[in-house]
Amino acid sequence: MKIDDHDHVTIPPNGKAHEPQPAWREEFPIDWPKDEFRSRRDFTKMLGLTSLAFVAGQVWIGVLSIMRKSRSAPARMDLGLLDELPIGGAKRFEFPSPGHPCLIVRLEKDSVVAFGQKCTHLSCPVIPNAELGKFLCPCHHGSFDIKTGRPLAGPPRRPLPKIELEIKDGRVYAVGFAEAGA
Ligand code: FES
Repeated sequence: MKIDDHDHVTIPPNGKAHEPQPAWREEFPIDWPKDEFRSRRDFTKMLGLTSLAFVAGQVWIGVLSIMRKSRSAPARMDLGLLDELPIGGAKRFEFPSPGHPCLIVRLEKDSVVAFGQKCTHLSCPVIPNAELGKFLCPCHHGSFDIKTGRPLAGPPRRPLPKIELEIKDGRVYAVGFAEAGA
């Protein structure tokens, strides 16, 4: 018997046909034809499983994204009386849910703005400075325009998330997030 005889199929020790042989013989074939068949089958199975895992991953990402959107669907939040905030003053609040710090700043008598407080570089809390017209980030000297939230200096490249405000009967309400760049 030649070792490289790829067509060779050994006769099972019990002399019976291959089909009724025990499972271990199927799982660990010693003959080339069966071994190659096994490899192709395993490869196809691996491809199938990989594709399935990929599809499952995509579905999971989609589900997470939908959950995140519905969770972050902002509720309307009462931020208090406009006149409680002095001109140039700021107040911290959490929106749309606890753990999301934001700042409202009164720029002029009838002008207020609100932004997420986490710096878009590495999430340090920004500090408003109405006189300079900036939010300053103490961590790496980043700064943002206090009216638009756009980055002005330092490492941040993305604007602070802007919060839509509504003023009704002298009270200020956070009503959602503005589109990026608005
Ligand atoms: S965390 Fe704000 S500049 Fe780096």
